[in-house]
Amino acid sequence: MDKLVIEGGRKLSGSVRVSGAKNACLPILAATLLTEEECVIKNVPDLKDVETMLNILSALGREVRRSPGEVRILSGKVNNVTASYELVSTMRASIAVLGPLLAKYGKAKVSFPGGCVIGQRPIDLHLKGLRALGADIRVEGGYLLAEAERLTARRIYLGGHFGSSVLATANILMAAVLAEGETIIENAACEPELLDLANFLISLGARIEGKGTPTIKIKGVSSLSGTTYSVIPDRIEAGTYMIAAVATGGRIFLESASCEHNAALIDKLEEAGGVVEEHSNGLDVYRSQPNIGSIDITTLTYPGFPTDLQAQMMTLLCISEGISVITEKVYPNRFIHISELNRMGAEIILEGATAIIKGVSRLKGAPVMASDLRASAALVLAALVAQGRTEISRIYHLDRGYEDLEEKLIALGANIERKKDSKKTNQLTG
Ligand code: EPU
Repeated sequence: MDKLVIEGGRKLSGSVRVSGAKNACLPILAATLLTEEECVIKNVPDLKDVETMLNILSALGREVRRSPGEVRILSGKVNNVTASYELVSTMRASIAVLGPLLAKYGKAKVSFPGGCVIGQRPIDLHLKGLRALGADIRVEGGYLLAEAERLTARRIYLGGHFGSSVLATANILMAAVLAEGETIIENAACEPELLDLANFLISLGARIEGKGTPTIKIKGVSSLSGTTYSVIPDRIEAGTYMIAAVATGGRIFLESASCEHNAALIDKLEEAGGVVEEHSNGLDVYRSQPNIGSIDITTLTYPGFPTDLQAQMMTLLCISEGISVITEKVYPNRFIHISELNRMGAEIILEGATAIIKGVSRLKGAPVMASDLRASAALVLAALVAQGRTEISRIYHLDRGYEDLEEKLIALGANIERKKDSKKTNQLTG
């Protein structure tokens, strides 16, 4: 298993380019199954999760060509409709091929995704929505077997115990673009990545109203064309570097980034003493005061504070003055990073889905283990601000979601090194 070794205590300063958004790119790649014409996707980040989605498309029979920052899905049909356990079990977002396969080919066999360290992650809303469109779905041998002659439009309420669902909305949206009639999704997730997916579908010829809002209306069409499309910048990657600037007391310029999509984070960073200046060519982020202020955060669906920045923000609050409170309302068990942060000298206690963080003057380097993508990012941030040396193991999670992490951090002045290990381990991802 590779490790990251970080000598902490340096202020990060300089410029960084924000990569394409992982969570927009993955459903967009799945959505290319809705057409048999060529699709060219640009601003594609070089990530393990993207590779997994491309492997799924290839295994389904689509020809994929990749060059730096770009993916070309050549025109052609799939030659089977099975997304295997081997691939789906390494990435939950693989479930996003279910809606497109069903809508385009009338059937799909997709491995039932398991839970992961951030929570149970049910798929009841995906199934409810697709069944409402007329799909017959059963589970056999660990696989979802779905069939439908032609999907038929319906009004679908997509709310669950924790509110809206990003990938369930994506699946139903993708299925509905080829369904007969007008589908209305109520309580659709509004995350910017879904807006990007809707824009991609529209570029294929889909007819969608209300994109990016809780009520999406989709008029089904009989076929879709090819397109060339560029993925939006990654707001979570951008947010992670913004937190790094404030946590290390440095100054980071995020090239071509804007405040759009990160209002909740910026509000909280400013409350904690950060400054985010918007310029025509990017964002300048730094700290306005010597100490970080304590704050309270509740994660929510968009436009609330994103769960995908909760762990990184917790690291910042570990070195704040006073007591901060973080309540997790999207994944109530997404707190595995707490024990690792405490090993580095943080003082965090967990009560249900609420973490109470008593700020300490400094964290101290230690060997720690990453548990999921965003927890890994939080540990990297902790290591960057800690006194001394931190060794982070199980860093394969970072390769799923942060393009060129070490290169970008080194360019900002971090002392960080990857220690390679040739031994292969079982890499279950979220
Ligand atoms: N949920 C249900 N039923 C469902 C689906 C979801 O109860 O059928 C619950 C989940 O258990 C959770 C809540 O609804 O409590 C929200 O989950 P959601 O479905 O929105 O999550 P997702 O679509 O599976 C995407 C991102 C995650 C991100 C969440 C929330 C992708 C590929 N993944 O997952 O990203 O945390 O939305 O914003 O888009 C990450 O990038 O690190 C990551 C985990």
